[in-house]
Formats: sequence, C-alpha cells, structure tokens
Amino acid sequence: MSDEWSVLSGAYEDVLLPRFQPLYNFLANLILKHIASSPQEKKLRLLDYGTGPGEPLLTIVKLLKDNQIENIQYEGMDLSSGMIALAQQRLKNFQIDLNHSDSIANSETYAFIVSSLVLPYISNKNQLLQEFYQHLNNGGLLITCHWSKASQVAFLSILKRVILFMTNNQESVEGNLDDDSSFSCANEELTRSLYEQQGFRIRDWLHFKLSMSFPDIRTFLSFARVAPWFNDENLYLKAESEAKRILTEEHGKNFFENKSFQLENDAVIIIATKN
Ligand SMILES: C[S@@+](CC[C@H](N)C(=O)[O-])C[C@H]1O[C@@H](n2cnc3c(N)ncnc32)[C@H](O)[C@@H]1O
Repeated sequence: MSDEWSVLSGAYEDVLLPRFQPLYNFLANLILKHIASSPQEKKLRLLDYGTGPGEPLLTIVKLLKDNQIENIQYEGMDLSSGMIALAQQRLKNFQIDLNHSDSIANSETYAFIVSSLVLPYISNKNQLLQEFYQHLNNGGLLITCHWSKASQVAFLSILKRVILFMTNNQESVEGNLDDDSSFSCANEELTRSLYEQQGFRIRDWLHFKLSMSFPDIRTFLSFARVAPWFNDENLYLKAESEAKRILTEEHGKNFFENKSFQLENDAVIIIATKN
C-alpha cells in the first residue's frame, strides 16, 4: 500500500488536497481554540500521523503562527516515501521534522496527535490507537478524522468503481466501498469502543459535511491519471461514460445542462483525550 500511495501522491496533491481544505481549516481551528483556551509558556509537541503531502500540518502551522502561537514543535510522519517527499516540499519554509515511517519510533509524548483520513486504511486500528495512547501526554488531545460510512464517501466510491470497471473488461461493478477490505470505516458504536478500549475518553464527536466541486469529469477522473487508460483516448472515453452513468443514475447529476458538479461527503472528527 505504501508504494501505491507514492504512485498516487501527485494526483492526490493536485486533485484531492484543495478539495479537502475546508476539513483541514476546521481541524486547525479546533487546535487553535484549544490552545487559546489555556495558553502555556512551555513547548508543546504536535505530531501529524499519516501527513500525506503535509497539507493538514501546513494549515495548522500557518494558522497558529498567524495567531502568534510559537511554542509548538511540529512533526509529521507517513509510511509513503512519495508522500513524505511532497510534504518536505510543501513545508520547506518551516522547521518541521518529517519522517518516513509507520510507527512512532521515539519515546516522546505529544500534546496533540492529529491524524486526518488515515484510520480507514489501517488494518490493525487497535494497535495504532494503542501507540497513539502511549505517545500522548496526560490531558493531551488525539484528533482524528475519517468518514462516517464508507458508502457515503461519494468521490472515492465512484472513483474506485470506475477504476475497477476499467480493469474488469469494462463491466460495471456493483456495490460500494463498504465491501472494500482495504478501506474500512467502523460505525460510531464500534469506533467509540475501539478508542475507549485503549483508555481514551471521547470529548467530541463532530460531523462535517465536505462538499467537493469539480469543474468537469476529466478533472475528477484525473485522480487516476497514472492508469494506462487515462491517456488513451478511446479507453478514457469509456471510463468517462461509466463515470457519467454512475453520476447520473445514482447521484442525480445532469451533464447535459452543466458540466461542473458537486459531490457531498460526510466526515467525522473525533476529539479524544487521555486522562
Ligand atoms: C488519504 S491520505 C491522508 C493524508 C493526509 N493526512 C491528508 O489528510 O491529506 C492517507 C495517508 O496515510 C498514509 N498511511 C497509510 N497507512 C499508514 C501507516 N500505517 N502509517 C503511516 N501512514 C500511513 C498514506 O501513505 C497516506 O499518505
């Protein structure tokens, strides 16, 4: 999977990051609000686990600096070397430790651990949450966000189906992300118990509507630009027609009138604490 993330990193950065920005802004504001409510002189450490191209971290750093909060030491880590290379580029103007790894190797503890859109891809969520717990200060905050239900992540659901359609002799694929074992979103009850089993107390469970807008289908499908069919005109048209079919039949989008479209996705933000 890490290689897959490296292959996808450029497309992820171009196609998805700008559309996830409202979510990153929301996360950054949560942290700002928390710090502003109990200002401290001492240095606080913040880790962004699975930072990808580094945009959540960049948004947090900029917002805190704009608000004269300078006592934070930032770190980011990601399993994918391609993602870390992008993060190094995006964050080059800031002094941030970025590590290519999937486990927190140091013995440090953090005041904040942030992990945005990573948990669905983790097969052993218990183990990761345990690691977060061990590396969080008493009273520290773990802020994670993911999706409320796999089938409600419209953009990913449609992209996966089109990609499968193209690798499956152009046969339509039924079903949705709920059936995809490499991407799992547990329901609220299960997720709460996962966190609580590790000792976390859930302070807030927030719902965030993420509306993603695309100027046209090609921009949307360009997330798969590394796929051989994307640059073959005939094959591309088949993929586009399948995407239009799904969007029209299942998402009520009408492409005769308007070529741009919006997809609505439901995200969940969990704020958990150790105390
Ligand atoms: C959907 S991206 C999210 C990136 C970033 N957090 C964001 O919100 O834009 C998922 C990221 O998780 C990373 N990832 C997946 N499994 C991981 C693991 N076990 N340890 C660390 N990073 C992981 C991937 O490499 C990828 O960069």
